[in-house]
Amino acid sequence: MTQEGAVSPPRAAASRTAYVANVPASMSERWWRDAVLYQVYPRSFADSDGDGVGDLAGITQRLEYLQWLGVDGLWLNPIHPSPNVDWGYDVSDYTGVHPDLGTIADLDELVSEAGARGIRVLLDLVPNHSSRKHPWFRQRPDFYVWSDDVPNNWESIFGGGPAWAFDEEQGRYYLHNFAPEQPDLDWWNPDVAPEFERILRFWFDRGVAGFRIDVAHAIYKDRELRDDPVIPGLGMRRRYSMFRPETHDVLRTWRALANEYDPQRVLLGEAYSLDVEQWAGYFGEKDDQLDLAFAFMVTHAELEADALRPVVAEVEAALPPHAWPCWTGSNHDIGRLASRWARGDEDRTRCALLILLALRGTPCLYYGDELALEAGDVPDDRIVDCATPSRDPGRTPMPWTPDGGWRNPWLPLSVTSRNVERQRADPGSTLHFTRDLIALRKVTPSLLAGGYEELPAPVGAWAWRRGDDVVAAVNLGTESVELAGVEGSIAISTNRSRDAERVTGSLTLNSSEGAIVRAASVP
Ligand code: GLC
Repeated sequence: MTQEGAVSPPRAAASRTAYVANVPASMSERWWRDAVLYQVYPRSFADSDGDGVGDLAGITQRLEYLQWLGVDGLWLNPIHPSPNVDWGYDVSDYTGVHPDLGTIADLDELVSEAGARGIRVLLDLVPNHSSRKHPWFRQRPDFYVWSDDVPNNWESIFGGGPAWAFDEEQGRYYLHNFAPEQPDLDWWNPDVAPEFERILRFWFDRGVAGFRIDVAHAIYKDRELRDDPVIPGLGMRRRYSMFRPETHDVLRTWRALANEYDPQRVLLGEAYSLDVEQWAGYFGEKDDQLDLAFAFMVTHAELEADALRPVVAEVEAALPPHAWPCWTGSNHDIGRLASRWARGDEDRTRCALLILLALRGTPCLYYGDELALEAGDVPDDRIVDCATPSRDPGRTPMPWTPDGGWRNPWLPLSVTSRNVERQRADPGSTLHFTRDLIALRKVTPSLLAGGYEELPAPVGAWAWRRGDDVVAAVNLGTESVELAGVEGSIAISTNRSRDAERVTGSLTLNSSEGAIVRAASVP
């Protein structure tokens, strides 16, 4: 089924064709491979009506900014009706819009206005569990996983206690891998899958460009509800409560469904495995599962050359040829890279952004990354998250102006010194750096599609080439380093005064400095 006109053609179609010209036609359909994605946490992005909660109309109002920044796709965290125990990840109506965020007409307008600016919109699909308040829970209890007693040792991700809760009405226990208000769906029930296919089509038919799939590694649970193994010294391994082989069948079905559309819809998975081989399996042996999967292994490594380099090498080695990783350093769960990775240091934040934008794969920025926004300060009496430790510091409002630009926001605005207004006016800002990196990527075929090859680098530094003519390097150590064998000119440096500098035989990088070099010769 096609939905002509529902998703607008990419902006600047002519120049886009130019840099994907030697890619087979079927591949150029995959716009997301050349894209920069941007994650919007809707409640915290932009508030159109001044009620303190960001909303869909607010995002539409800020499309000019997002287009100026140069992003190609937005992933919105769940926008559906929800009791908000887990802020939208407890869905009570998969085809509705939460009244706090607006209406379905607002979503249609966002999709259409974004499309007119060449920006696609991805929603968040939550197939592992619903809200306990979803009508299914009472009307179709067979959609959920039940047991007469606590059948195994499975643990809830939130709280760590048993993943089973007693329901008075049924007189039985139901499974909740997350909060008790988030009962897990029973995918062994053949009536569940058609519901989700209907949900996918509902949004694809409205022009939604794809989904980020929440806990894409869970979905199916072991049919026999066997105990998860406990490995001495390592703890519990979720072999039966998650990571079941049948989940791959669901992803295959959805991929076929997404491919029916023109343009193809994209499936981006939160396939949260740190086992690289297992993770790579979510792309399918025949390129028939996820289009993109977040490579969370990098987010678990420190922002140090010796920590990141081997992880990226491992990912590159494990990926089947058709697979395409998605690199991120921040999100609504893991927090902000400017704090977690860079400890507030803006130079190191720029190094992190350079890494994300210069690896082979699709970068996904989290709102505020482009400002080097740090974790917010959320006092105990303002915490609204159900998880411990609270994820709220990574979800605070986007600072648009020096005073933030919000009225009584739902989460506190703490420091607003890094804000859009000030940085947009300053060509030397991290915002401009991010924008220029994105622009460079778009016009540099090797940064889009060139292979990744690690280069020898002094202690503390990490260098790699992309294709035949690009070298990227970051010095995350404390001493300045010299990278031998590089000839060319600096296309962009974290230290903007070095842009366009000639590199004759070696590239010197100060501590916490990085550069992308258009190379005439590489080591
Ligand atoms: C995913 C989401 C997270 C949520 C959890 C349960 O990990 O990213 O925010 O709490 O799933 O839905």
